[in-house]
Amino acid sequence: MSKRGAFVVIEGLDRSGKSTQAETLIKRLQAADIPSKLIKFPDRSTPIGKLIDSYLRSETELDDHAIHLLFSANRWELASSIVKDLEAGTVIICDRYAFSGIAFSASKVAPSAQPDAPTTTPTGSNIAPTHKTPPPLLPYSWCRSPDVSLPAPDLTLFLDILPEVASQRAGFGGERYENQEHQERVRELFERVAEEVEAEGIGKWVVLNGGLELQEVSESIWSEVKEVVRQGVEGELGNVKR
Ligand code: TMP
Ligand code: MG
Repeated sequence: MSKRGAFVVIEGLDRSGKSTQAETLIKRLQAADIPSKLIKFPDRSTPIGKLIDSYLRSETELDDHAIHLLFSANRWELASSIVKDLEAGTVIICDRYAFSGIAFSASKVAPSAQPDAPTTTPTGSNIAPTHKTPPPLLPYSWCRSPDVSLPAPDLTLFLDILPEVASQRAGFGGERYENQEHQERVRELFERVAEEVEAEGIGKWVVLNGGLELQEVSESIWSEVKEVVRQGVEGELGNVKR
């Protein structure tokens, strides 16, 4: 069996540098004459992607379940072409994937459940604000379901950055999920996702320091991918598991 192209995903919080790094990586692959393609989720160009874009810009309101399913449907739209490209030997670099889908949706909480609001007892005395994580709006296992069976990445690079650092970067706050509290919960959820991916043993999950200088991050990415993108992958493409 001939080798197939590697499926490499870059994940992280908003403003963690994913898109910049994905573009740098694809240029490097092209300069090295390695057949490769850059894709991004959400893909805002499709009809489903346009609905997602409008939701993220807060131009439309959608039920939390519905938007979650749209994000997943947006991946299913491209799933067969991803498989085809990989089998043809093309490396796929993918800016966000199902892991973002799980982490961003499973970290949503009701606005009234935001922590730190002091509550008052029936006798009128104040209860100190708690820092307990509020209950999620969508169960974690429900959030995982729609992406089950999608092609699984061979390698996921998580660009780790502290939410307080990300929130200082230019452009932060422009879209719906770009607030520090949500990003903090997203980062915790990504840790859970990472543990599960590692336990499944289907693809590799690597955490890289996204807080370094651009070029240092690019180099750390290159040292993780260079072998697999040059040599291709021997085994069959995996699937996202339940
Ligand atoms: P972007 O900034 O990479 O274009 O992503 C847009 C936002 O959508 C970002 O806050 C992450 C979020 N997101 C989800 O909530 N679910 C998903 O499935 C994906 C791919 C992104
Ligand atoms: Mg963003």
